[in-house]
Amino acid sequence: MAPTQTSTLPLDTASSNALAESGLEYALVDPDGDAFAPFLRSVSRGFLGEEPTAEEVESARKSLRDRRLTGVFDRAGAVPEAPVATVDSWASELTVSPGRTLPLWSISAVTVAPTHRRRGIARAMLTGELRTAAAAGYALAGLTVTEATIYGRWGFSPAAWASDVVVDTSRARWTGPVAPGRLDFVAPESLPERLAAVHERIRVRRPGAVPGWEGRWRGVAGLTPESKDAKKIRAVAYRDLDGVERGILVYTLDEREDYTAHDLQVRALFADGDESLAALWRFALEHDLVARVKADLQPPAPPVQWMISDRRAVTATLTDHHWLRVLDVPRALASRDYSGALDMVFGIDDPLGFAHGAWAVRIDAGGAAVVEPTDAEPDVRMPVGALASLLLGGVRATELASAGLVAGEPARLGEIDGAFAPAATPLLDIWY
Ligand SMILES: CC(C)(COP(=O)(O)OP(=O)(O)OC[C@H]1O[C@@H](n2cnc3c(N)ncnc32)[C@H](O)[C@@H]1OP(=O)(O)O)[C@@H](O)C(=O)NCCC(=O)NCCS
Repeated sequence: MAPTQTSTLPLDTASSNALAESGLEYALVDPDGDAFAPFLRSVSRGFLGEEPTAEEVESARKSLRDRRLTGVFDRAGAVPEAPVATVDSWASELTVSPGRTLPLWSISAVTVAPTHRRRGIARAMLTGELRTAAAAGYALAGLTVTEATIYGRWGFSPAAWASDVVVDTSRARWTGPVAPGRLDFVAPESLPERLAAVHERIRVRRPGAVPGWEGRWRGVAGLTPESKDAKKIRAVAYRDLDGVERGILVYTLDEREDYTAHDLQVRALFADGDESLAALWRFALEHDLVARVKADLQPPAPPVQWMISDRRAVTATLTDHHWLRVLDVPRALASRDYSGALDMVFGIDDPLGFAHGAWAVRIDAGGAAVVEPTDAEPDVRMPVGALASLLLGGVRATELASAGLVAGEPARLGEIDGAFAPAATPLLDIWY
């Protein structure tokens, strides 16, 4: 069983030694200690942010208290207490099929100071994270990325996609369902609890999703000290006819050149069921003095396009969003439900070793998988990243094969497509 407390796991020796050879120190940072403020400053600098104030440090400290924070220190530098590289990881869980989750080693805040870039520090940190996660029993690691060019070399690959949606409200007459419940404005102070409650119900049903956390919800609600939009944030909650809160929309209204044509910028739209989805989208699209509704991290084929008179009012820009890394092939593949039977040997190429080898994948007619190492000749071959992309069924093996990323007979690839077809399109609806 993968531990949920990761901050006490030992540092990876290979990375420690590699960094020491360059005169650098690899060390855990205690969120409650003096090293936390310089750590946070280094993270902020890495992401081109402003210097955090004392109040922001205390707010982040609270939010990151359960995290495993690791820094790389150049003690010969002018500010030896400020890490020249940072990484933040924690025990999360990934929904792999509706109602089924798998422990996930989540990684964030990967930064290397511009003074120390391109000397292998990120490589030492990332491979250290993967070895630590694998040794602790995690079958998967995951992250979200600023650039799509960095993490593939360590076996990460997109497994869930998301759309950034813009809707031209002048073309979007509502034709969707009329929700029978009611909408009410709710106070920002109440949002962390409300968002957590609704999101928790949604994320366990959506492959690709992970739980949020208190600091994330406080940020959405504009309740963190660094929030620039705090005074503009409004929110409505949808309650069904039984009085159960089923959805939350958090948004701001941004004035453009014309007062009658504001942008409604969605900060969160979480709907537990079709009724609340329709109610919240309708509220946004029919808001007075709004010309555009903008919402990020929506499903790849956004359902709102089916709820309005002119589907071309919706522009959806698709991006890779949730990147996964398979560390344990049998446990990762056996964790989900499948749509059909399969009996096939997968040959996985993993330069870092974790997933390397030939694996007999047997899925019964009920969609349950058993995966074991085998000496048999593989039917299909792929790099470890392709396996991560296939895992949740967000992309087909035949599509990856046409890009040269999976090799095998077309008929066998078609069998994988049939078996791996997901019960719901994978989506990650937050950043982490
Ligand atoms: C991205 C970043 C962490 C890389 O750190 P680094 O220590 O310079 O990376 P390394 O020296 O270990 O390089 C490892 C490999 O990644 C490549 N690489 C590093 N940064 C890259 C980038 N931005 N784009 C493409 N490749 C990159 C290197 O060329 C090297 O390639 P190789 O394996 O073929 O030799 C660092 O540039 C950074 O902090 N950027 C700003 C913050 C950021 O974007 N973080 C990522 C958050 S998701």
